[in-house]
Amino acid sequence: MAIFIDALVELTLFKTSPYKSLGYASMIMFLSWLLYRLAFSPLSKVPGPWYTKLSVLFLVYHEYRGSKRLWIHNLHLKYGSSVRIAPKELSFASTSAIKEIYTSAGGYAKTGLYSLFQHGSYRNLFTALDKKEHNEKKKRLADRYSNSAVLQPEIQAILRDRADAFTKVCAEKQTLDIYLYLHCYALDCVSAVVFDPYGTRSIEGGKDNEMVRRLSYHNSRPGLVIRHYLPWLHRFYEIFAPQSQKGGQMIDDYAWASIRKEPHSTSTLSTRLLKYPEIGTENMVAECLDHIGAGIDTTGDALCFLMWEISQPHNNKRMQRLSEELRLSNPANGDTLIDLPYLNAVIEETMRLWAPGTQSLPRYVPSGGRSIDGYFIPGHTIVSAQSFTVHRLDQTIFPNSEAFMPERWLEIEGSVERQRLIFAFGSGARTCLGKFLAMSEMRLLLHAVYSKFHTRPADDMNASMEMSDQLMTSRPKDMLCKLTFEPIGL
Ligand code: HEM
Repeated sequence: MAIFIDALVELTLFKTSPYKSLGYASMIMFLSWLLYRLAFSPLSKVPGPWYTKLSVLFLVYHEYRGSKRLWIHNLHLKYGSSVRIAPKELSFASTSAIKEIYTSAGGYAKTGLYSLFQHGSYRNLFTALDKKEHNEKKKRLADRYSNSAVLQPEIQAILRDRADAFTKVCAEKQTLDIYLYLHCYALDCVSAVVFDPYGTRSIEGGKDNEMVRRLSYHNSRPGLVIRHYLPWLHRFYEIFAPQSQKGGQMIDDYAWASIRKEPHSTSTLSTRLLKYPEIGTENMVAECLDHIGAGIDTTGDALCFLMWEISQPHNNKRMQRLSEELRLSNPANGDTLIDLPYLNAVIEETMRLWAPGTQSLPRYVPSGGRSIDGYFIPGHTIVSAQSFTVHRLDQTIFPNSEAFMPERWLEIEGSVERQRLIFAFGSGARTCLGKFLAMSEMRLLLHAVYSKFHTRPADDMNASMEMSDQLMTSRPKDMLCKLTFEPIGL
């Protein structure tokens, strides 16, 4: 402070040479900027470490390294449910903030980060930033994924068929890398909902299986971070790190071939899109690819974390309880499994701990600014919540919050508060469109497996099942999860 006042006095009294004056002026400007960022900016009251008030670099660094989720989580543990993570970016973890950001008046607008997931120039449902444009798209497509649509006998039959194909491989191989085969299951299910009768059959092997292998081991995060923050550098990055590109041509070729085939089942996404020729085939393909992409890693990895956890020796009794409940139902006779309390509890607890969309869902505060959890936030500030923290921070609602305890979901007391804090599928108008599909896929797969098998980690399973982050999702770190399947002696 003293140096600041000295410089000011020297400058105002014109006691120095022009060069020195320039130096002092720059120093004053720098110190004023520092003071503003640290103490007087409208966001300075929001708790957080001093360095996040000065530069966005810390956030970008963690995003690039894949440590953003845990970095933000640790800041919340230290500073509470509102944290400043960059000069113009805040993270929240309370029910009231989620309501304000994602639900009030249709929710705040998505940020430019979502443009990274665009196919060409077309903005699909996930990447649409404009609310009106999003509403129109959603009106056209939402009924394809409603709970009643997913529970239609023809969709259930497809999902059951894929779950049975999965257990056939379990029985044949006995030890299986479920990371890969659950991605196959998820692709086969979602591609059928999009293109039936031209859904993939990747569980059985062949070209479709090769496609899943190409899609499942990408490392797209560093490239996407560079493209978002330093678009000019991205071209060079692509030249030197081409292996970072997700997927390959195969899924695009599959989608183009499938939309051109005829006829499509009436319940599919493609049938609905084809009713609007003005969209154009290229954009229809982009929309279909987006839904397929959104439905592979998410559902596959959630199931993978679930089956790994329930296969641990300390969860034997839980697996037993799940098997006993599942064996009393038969989806082939029309049981939808939606009312099975323990099955639901196991899925809820998995989604609480390891829902693959664990990370911040960023939004812009509307112009004019808004109040969130007692702080006035100016327009265009980026605000977000990440389910990883939302599902763990409040120990009064989720006691022992790091532990896998499905039983907590069976208690009546506190059930409203628990449900309110669940953010695994997002919230409000932009909530996950495929939620009911994902839930049904998970129920049917778990029924197919645990009504017939007990599972345990394979003897040679040394891979890490720690969560590892892509840009918005998380997956098992080593992308390998070997389980041994033992038929239940009935
Ligand atoms: C366990 C499985 C899944 C999880 C955890 C999950 C999670 C999410 C989350 C958190 C969002 C909100 C993103 C945001 O607000 O920024 C979202 C959106 C979306 N999801 Fe899912 N998802 C899953 C499965 C699926 C499936 C199977 C589909 C297939 C159709 C799908 C399609 C979509 C679409 C199209 C959106 C964009 C919705 C919109 O903006 O209106 N998801 N998902």
